[in-house]
Amino acid sequence: MTKITMLSIVAAALLFTGCGEKAKDSATDAAAKAVESTKEAASHAVDATKEAADKAVEAAKETTAKAVDATKAAADKAVEATKEAADKAVEATKDAAATATEAVADTAKNVAGAAAYAKCAGCHGADGKTKALGKSPVIAGQSKADLVTKINGYKAGTINVAGMGNLMKGQVATMDDASIEAVATYISTLK
Ligand code: HEC
Repeated sequence: MTKITMLSIVAAALLFTGCGEKAKDSATDAAAKAVESTKEAASHAVDATKEAADKAVEAAKETTAKAVDATKAAADKAVEATKEAADKAVEATKDAAATATEAVADTAKNVAGAAAYAKCAGCHGADGKTKALGKSPVIAGQSKADLVTKINGYKAGTINVAGMGNLMKGQVATMDDASIEAVATYISTLK
């Protein structure tokens, strides 16, 4: 090789090396800048994510509070409605029980009254519409109060309408207040 050729090669090598250094530097710069901007972008993203998360937590808190309030209100209403329904049921049960008690009492009275009337039927008729011995008024359907007063009058010997007061006194002398009331109730319902 000639000297000139050798020199050219050396010069080219030097030049090439110099260019490489420059390229290295600019690549390093670009990398540093890229790292910087990535860092910035990342920190922005972190901030935005934090904010969004905070907002989401706030919104969730509010929603939960509202749901709790609504649930409380609904529960209160349900308790109120249940109380009312229970009260009404208790009232209805009381009414039904009272009615049933009255009906049972009436039936018991009528049973006692019907039994007590058995010995009266011979003169007054099974339906109470016979004029006893052709003398007494019809007793069927008279008011219970009137019948009680009359029967008690015969029992005390203070009534004698057709001269048969004593006969009637003998019929009712041994009756107590309860059976007088029962038989009067029974006669008042005869039709
Ligand atoms: C033997 C027949 C006879 C029997 C039994 C009899 N009675 Fe009489 N009853 C009479 C006569 C008669 C009179 C009318 C008495 C008078 O002169 O006041 C009378 C009157 C009455 C009167 C009054 C009616 C009125 O409107 O003035 C009543 C009430 C009565 N009886 C209820 C009874 C009852 C209740 C029994 C049964 C526990 C009974 N009697 C059993 C014959 C009878």
